[in-house]
Amino acid sequence: MLFSRVALLGPPGAGKGTQAKRIVEKLNVVHLSTGDILRDEVARQTDLGETAKGFMDRGELVPDAVIVDMIRGRIAEASSGFLLDGFPRTIVQAEALEKISPLDVVINIDLPRDEVVTRLTARRVCTSCGRIYNLSFRPPADPATCEACGGALIQRDDDTEDVIQNRYDVYQASTAPLIAYYRERGLLRDIDGRVGSDEAFVQISGILEE
Ligand code: AP5
Repeated sequence: MLFSRVALLGPPGAGKGTQAKRIVEKLNVVHLSTGDILRDEVARQTDLGETAKGFMDRGELVPDAVIVDMIRGRIAEASSGFLLDGFPRTIVQAEALEKISPLDVVINIDLPRDEVVTRLTARRVCTSCGRIYNLSFRPPADPATCEACGGALIQRDDDTEDVIQNRYDVYQASTAPLIAYYRERGLLRDIDGRVGSDEAFVQISGILEE
């Protein structure tokens, strides 16, 4: 039986978004990326987006209460299952999640700081379909155009080197404690994020079919 309530953990740039797109197809569950939801709120200039933008641009976490309010209803509505990408990111968020819905498994994709910086400074994202590219590892034929839909490829505002370094520090201080939290509960499975994305997906598929 496949798991249907899954969370992805890992530092910025570990490959959570890349793997998430493949996992939701395999499991046929809803992809809930707090980063994507927040970026959409920022683009639409909503009150939530205005609140979140400063935190995101500095590479800091948006306050727990804001995030939990934002995600609670979406999780509750995902009756066929969900993949959480970027949530929970603090112990407070994990405790809130336990009251909303239990998890079947937490997949922790690890990546060292130097690899994080290398990958994220070369990341480009399609503004239209959300496909993720990397100019170093798997460059598109035209670095400005999405191969899948023809949309414009952009660099995220928080993918500058100083903000990436801060995001990694924030990850170590606030999110890495979740590794022990979920290991103690018997839910954690580890993936080495340095392997290629196809190999990572093979390993993740094995975990999901446990
Ligand atoms: P969010 O959007 O969640 O960013 P993140 O966690 O920093 O993760 P990224 O999206 O940067 O990386 P990823 O792991 O998805 O890597 P990707 O697959 O793109 O959050 C952004 C901000 O929103 C936060 O800083 C915070 O302010 C706020 N926020 C979000 N959630 C929050 C929460 N719960 N609480 C509070 N605040 C929150 O891959 C990266 C690159 O590497 C790509 O170019 C890709 O092509 C390449 N790549 C991927 N896998 C491989 C591989 N195996 N080999 C080689 N290259 C690879």
